[in-house]
Amino acid sequence: MARNQEHSDAMYARAREVIAGGVSSDARRLPGTPIYVDHASGSRLWDVDGNGYIDYVLGQGPAILGHSPDVLAEAVSAQMRRGVTYSAQHLAEIEVAERMRSMVPCAELIRFNSVGSEAAHAAIRLARGHTGRAKILKFEGHYHGWFDPVLFSVHPPLDQAGPADHPVLVPGSGGQQQNQAADLVLAPWNDLQAFTDAVARHRGEIAAVVMEPVLCNSGAITPDDAYLAAVRQICDDEGILLIFDEVITGFRLAPGGAQERLGITPDIGVFGKAMAGGMQVSALAGKAEVMESIASGKVSHAGTFNSHPVAMAGARAVLEVLDEKREDIYPEMERRGRRLMNGIAAIASRLGVPMLVQGTGHLFQIYLTDAADVRDYREFATTDRSTMTRLHGLLLDEGINMVPRGLWFLSSAHTDADVDQTLTAFETALARLR
Ligand SMILES: Cc1ncc(COP(=O)(O)O)c(C=O)c1O
Repeated sequence: MARNQEHSDAMYARAREVIAGGVSSDARRLPGTPIYVDHASGSRLWDVDGNGYIDYVLGQGPAILGHSPDVLAEAVSAQMRRGVTYSAQHLAEIEVAERMRSMVPCAELIRFNSVGSEAAHAAIRLARGHTGRAKILKFEGHYHGWFDPVLFSVHPPLDQAGPADHPVLVPGSGGQQQNQAADLVLAPWNDLQAFTDAVARHRGEIAAVVMEPVLCNSGAITPDDAYLAAVRQICDDEGILLIFDEVITGFRLAPGGAQERLGITPDIGVFGKAMAGGMQVSALAGKAEVMESIASGKVSHAGTFNSHPVAMAGARAVLEVLDEKREDIYPEMERRGRRLMNGIAAIASRLGVPMLVQGTGHLFQIYLTDAADVRDYREFATTDRSTMTRLHGLLLDEGINMVPRGLWFLSSAHTDADVDQTLTAFETALARLR
């Protein structure tokens, strides 16, 4: 049944008079009226029309302990009374960095920013400054924030993207200049031969290889066994730094992120989202030898709000929980996520809807496709994405909020009862779609 959206519709109309396009981030554009949230708690959110949703968007990933957990609310409100921002040093930033160093394999030295795009930008500058080389090798379908130097070939239209084994760099936005791609090298991901060839074509020029170690912006794809190990080895052999953008995977797939789960340590890791449970904190965390280029002042890194006291108080509280309750939180999140994945796959098969469900449980992707596997951007891009957008709308009507492209995030607040309720709702939505 379609939801009552009377108040949301009115707010959207009002918003469009003063906010360009009615939304503050393009990721929140929907075909119809977006959700106007009244409040959120645990695994749920409620809109201004009183509709409740089991939330698998979680603020695009950050709310790993669910919405507004007491531990975060208390830490943040206590800090608010001690000063909101100092642009000066304080204890919480040291404690967050110490905690990160104990949790994350590559984190020997750390710097903080506010959002993932900034920290990814800092990582790329650091790699260039540290190595003295210009080129960055990125992969088609991977997202590293919305800044010009890396917003190329994230979701390129296939008719502009060139051949799969030699993709061409396509800007992601009007206003970007093609010459900003001059120092990028693009390769298909999860294809070792293509990677080896790209490195050979630019021998001695590549400062860093940057990737999402588990691809979450074009599906939810764990690379082939041995791919990351081979990339790591080639980077070592060629004097190239390896950057893992763990803005989504960090503190989500494991306490030490994808690098812990997959057993490959990059030279630099980029973190954000889950590390502060919903507060705006991102981090650049790397090997001491590399981070020394920032420590010495050779490479500049700055920001008025870096290590913001309120946000760091939140990060300190959230990381303490994630670290100290790791034995409960991560296996349970994975188990519930896998229950949901298996349940969704079973419903799709019962209803005869071609659907693939992929992921680790902590996060997963549903694809409308006959394919048995999705391994890279090109395969993701040939799944039925317009029908997925329709399914997203039907799920909202049944009280389920997934990321519109078909991605689902779990939190420690989701319960088995939430999973059961979600599966019932999913069956109704999918039957209507069919
Ligand atoms: C892998 C990855 N890197 C970087 C970013 C950019 O982070 P932010 O939106 O906080 O700037 C995102 C955002 O979704 C992301 O998924």
